Amino acid sequence: RTIYLNGSWMPEGEAKISPFDRGFLMSDGIYEVTCVLDGKLVEYEGHAARLQRSARALDLNLPVDEAELLVLHREIVARNGLEQGMIYLQLTRGAADRDFIFPPMDTPSTLFMFTQAKDVLGNPAAEAGISVVTVPDLRWGRRDIKTVQLLYPSMAKMEAKAKGADDAWMVEDGVVTEASSATAHIVSADDRLITRDLSHALLPGITRASVLELAAAHGITVEERAFTVEEAQAAREAFITSATNFVIPVTSIDGARIADGKPGPLTQVLRALYVDTRR
Ligand code: PDD
Repeated sequence: RTIYLNGSWMPEGEAKISPFDRGFLMSDGIYEVTCVLDGKLVEYEGHAARLQRSARALDLNLPVDEAELLVLHREIVARNGLEQGMIYLQLTRGAADRDFIFPPMDTPSTLFMFTQAKDVLGNPAAEAGISVVTVPDLRWGRRDIKTVQLLYPSMAKMEAKAKGADDAWMVEDGVVTEASSATAHIVSADDRLITRDLSHALLPGITRASVLELAAAHGITVEERAFTVEEAQAAREAFITSATNFVIPVTSIDGARIADGKPGPLTQVLRALYVDTRR
C-alpha cells in the first residue's frame, strides 16, 4: 500500500511515527473511516464535516484545509487503485514530552491515511444477518467525538466472539447506546424506525443520518429516542449502520431471535435504497 503521512506519500513499510506521539502514549487523537465504492468516495462531505467537528472539540490542529483534504482522499484512492473498501484517516496531537497538559498549539500534529480493501457490497452478513450480545457501555462520556480510544469496543467485540456472537450492543442506564462500531436501530411492530437520539452518549453516524433521511422520504415514521434491550428483542426488525457496513440486519440479541430470525424486509429496503442513492 501507498500511505499518506504528514505531507508525504510512501510505501507503508517506510512510514515512521515518533514513539512520543500522543496518539501512541495517550490515545490523543481522532479518526474517520470513509467508504469507497467503484473507486469513488461515499458520503465524503459528512465524514469531512465530522472530522472537523471532532478536531474542534479536542483543540486538534488539522494541518490541511478543506480543499486539500478532498484532494488527499481522491489521491489515496487513485494511488492504491482502490475499487471497494475504506479510507482510514487519523489525526493526533503529535510528538511531545509526556505530559497531561497539551503541548503548545504549534506542535506539529500527525496526519496519517491508508486504504483497506473490503467487499462492502458482497458482505455475506447483508443476507445472513448478524447476532449480537449486550455488554455494559464502559466507554468515556464523549462518544460523540470519534477518538482512537477503541480498547473497550475491541474488548466488547472479543466478548461477543467468545460467546459465539458477531457483535456487541452496548447498554447504559437500561437503554442501548450503540453497537461496538456502528449505530443500532430497531423497527417497531407498527413499522416505525427507532434509533437513539443524538447526545454525548453516541457517535453521530453519517450512515445513520442518511438512512433516517431515506426512511422518511420512503414514508416511514422515524422516532429518535432511546430503546431498551427488551424492546429491541421484541422488535419486528433490528439492524446496524456504519460506513463500511451500510445497513446490516441483526437477527438475534442475547440469544433471543428477532421476529422469525430472518433479516427484516424494511432493513433490506433501506440497504438497497442506501446502495442505490449513495453509490
Ligand atoms: N465506526 N458508532 C460507533 C461507535 C462507530 O465507531 C461508528 C463507525 C458508528 C457509525 O458511524 P458512521 O455511520 O459514520 O460510520 C457508530 C467506524 C466505521 C469504524 O470504527 O471502523
